[in-house]
Amino acid sequence: MKIAVSGKGGVGKTLIAGGLARGFAERGLKTIAIDADSSPNLALTLGLSTEEARKIVPISENKELVDSKTGTGYSGVYRLSFTVDDIVRDYSVSTPFGVNLIVMGTVKAMGSGCMCAPNAVIRALLRHLIVERNEAVVLDLEAGVEHIGRGTAKQVDALLIVADSNLKSLETAKHIHDLAAAAGMKQLYLVGNRVMNDAQKQAITAYAEKNDLSLLTFIPFDPKVTEADMRGETPLLNREIEAVQVIDGLCEKLIEKNS
Ligand SMILES: Nc1ncnc2c1ncn2[C@@H]1O[C@H](COP(=O)(O)OP(=O)(O)O)[C@@H](O)[C@H]1O
Ligand SMILES: [Mg+2]
Repeated sequence: MKIAVSGKGGVGKTLIAGGLARGFAERGLKTIAIDADSSPNLALTLGLSTEEARKIVPISENKELVDSKTGTGYSGVYRLSFTVDDIVRDYSVSTPFGVNLIVMGTVKAMGSGCMCAPNAVIRALLRHLIVERNEAVVLDLEAGVEHIGRGTAKQVDALLIVADSNLKSLETAKHIHDLAAAAGMKQLYLVGNRVMNDAQKQAITAYAEKNDLSLLTFIPFDPKVTEADMRGETPLLNREIEAVQVIDGLCEKLIEKNS
């Protein structure tokens, strides 16, 4: 089960990625969550404290690790082939929900021209996690769309594209969808989040129909989500929040579709 979550900034990717990862772990799947956002905050959603989250050094910023993997002793020349399973073992952080978290750091234009050493490590690691390993993987992707359809992110089983009723977020969703479809990605689903009323539901539904986006579900807006995030607590702890329940239910749907 390899799921990526994408969409415009602020639409709820991290909440959804965190909720799915917890849901998979609670259903007995060994689960790795990957934070691939350049301003990572999945750690908090997975139940770590701000102090614990701050201590995590993103892989791309761990110079010692990157050098140990790619260094040749010649400046500007680096190794392309190295092991990464030990990175998963040594640098994933366990979280209270039983999910192992890996914070990637900035992943500029994965699969494209930039061949700097941190990128090489991240690409190899993503490939390993998505293509070679058996754990469930949930990938919280950056707001930008550069990863989609390039490199190994496109090997995921399903791409959830999150939007709210704001036309800008829907336009971003369509852009992501079109890139992903052009790259041959198969399971592309729109998720309508932060939905406050029927008018918003209708706006999202109409946009999806008009643009051939497959709408998977709606997640209602709940101020308790925002309030928890404001306090630096994870909204996932409060299972009475309908949004949290819907995200948990999404796990079942995704497991069904991919088993
Ligand atoms: N269903 C929801 N109801 C209320 N607030 C939400 C909901 N989903 C997300 N939010 C809020 O929206 C903001 C952005 O969510 P986040 O998951 O960080 O988005 P992203 O990762 O896409 O930037 C946060 O303040 C979060 O609390
Ligand atoms: Mg986020």
